[in-house]
Amino acid sequence: MKEQVDLIVDEASEVVTVGGGTGPLRGAAMDALEIVPDGAVAVRDGEIVAVDRAEALHERYEASRELSARGGTVLPGFCDPHTHPVFATTREGEFDLRARGGTYQDITRAGGGIFSSVRALRESSRDVLARGLTDRLDRFIMCGTTSLEAKSGYGLDKETELLALELLADADHVHALDIDRTCLAAHQVPPEFADERDAYLRLVIEEILPEVVERGLARSADVFCDEGAYSVDEARRVLEGAKELGLSLRVHADELAQIGASGLAASLGAQTADHLVKITDDGIAALVDAGTTPVLLPGTCFSLRIREYAPARAMIEAGLPVALATDFNPGTSFIPSMVEIVALACGLLGMTVAEAITAATRNAAETMGLPGVRGRLEPGAVGDLIILDVPNHLFLGYQLGWNPVTAVVKRGGVVWQRHDDRPALL
Ligand code: NIG
Ligand code: FE
Repeated sequence: MKEQVDLIVDEASEVVTVGGGTGPLRGAAMDALEIVPDGAVAVRDGEIVAVDRAEALHERYEASRELSARGGTVLPGFCDPHTHPVFATTREGEFDLRARGGTYQDITRAGGGIFSSVRALRESSRDVLARGLTDRLDRFIMCGTTSLEAKSGYGLDKETELLALELLADADHVHALDIDRTCLAAHQVPPEFADERDAYLRLVIEEILPEVVERGLARSADVFCDEGAYSVDEARRVLEGAKELGLSLRVHADELAQIGASGLAASLGAQTADHLVKITDDGIAALVDAGTTPVLLPGTCFSLRIREYAPARAMIEAGLPVALATDFNPGTSFIPSMVEIVALACGLLGMTVAEAITAATRNAAETMGLPGVRGRLEPGAVGDLIILDVPNHLFLGYQLGWNPVTAVVKRGGVVWQRHDDRPALL
């Protein structure tokens, strides 16, 4: 008698499990992907039941639904641990300004950048924002992302920051994507508080974050600690306040300048420090000691034309469990696809394809407080997987400009499928 399951995905040239052991992968283990050739995956009640060679798996299980990978590659659904998807308008004009020599800081000083997103968001309506968010979440799914960290940060007043988090909570209920929410009320100092920064800090620490916690609207708090944003002393106050409220900490650190932000993140035991283009060797050592995960965002360097990159190799050699994210936002990374981020990590950060896949799945998932084991395909893990029309995982760094995702399975249900029988680009 065969065991009954809900779904079998088979005829995969490779099932990349990213499995084995516990916790995130570090050092050489990031590069040692566990791969099942001619593989299949069985899912029941939203959880992975088995991953094996297809022949062996079919001997033990039968399914009410079968889905063929048609010789493609099966991966865990991508986990994107850093996004800003609640906004009202795009900012392609700034991308063009940078192409003409302007810098991100110039644009911010002129009242653009985050400030322009804040103006647009405050003027928008709940319905319009909700529709925009849903459409973006659909596209994340089409790109193979099944778990997402998402931040507020374009409201910068109590009402609008809470609205952004409410929209994310609502979307999490109705949308297939699972969302780990972060309050980024300390993204910038809003213009109406430009001459009284301290008053805004108190508003964040004494009013916004406590209400966020009371209403369960976010699991984490984040601060943009950098030149032109919050100083280390200001960020420390926000992060300490957030920590006291029981929030987990994430920090935008060492993106534009080295002002000690990654050291601050480590000293407070932050879950992640993100960007890290300007991190020093001491900063890397501090992250190791603190157990803080570096989240690297190569799409942002690309979009900002910063031709300097987070030292991914030194981090991996130091034993840090490097994670990758899109930083999807209207200003500095209008890139929803983790496939593209994996390619940029290989091309710009010097990571191997295997390391980048580990960073975009298992290691990313480990920084997110979502329930269950994610970012790997092994018995007991959440049944989130994707099928790619590429014959092996090495195509991920190699092939750009074509979305290879043909099907997305979320908790054992097919939530997106590409209707196109075209074979792989070979
Ligand atoms: O991660 N660096 C700060 N925050 C975002 C950019 C936000 C924006 O420019 O709208 C980032 O790159
Ligand atoms: Fe960001």
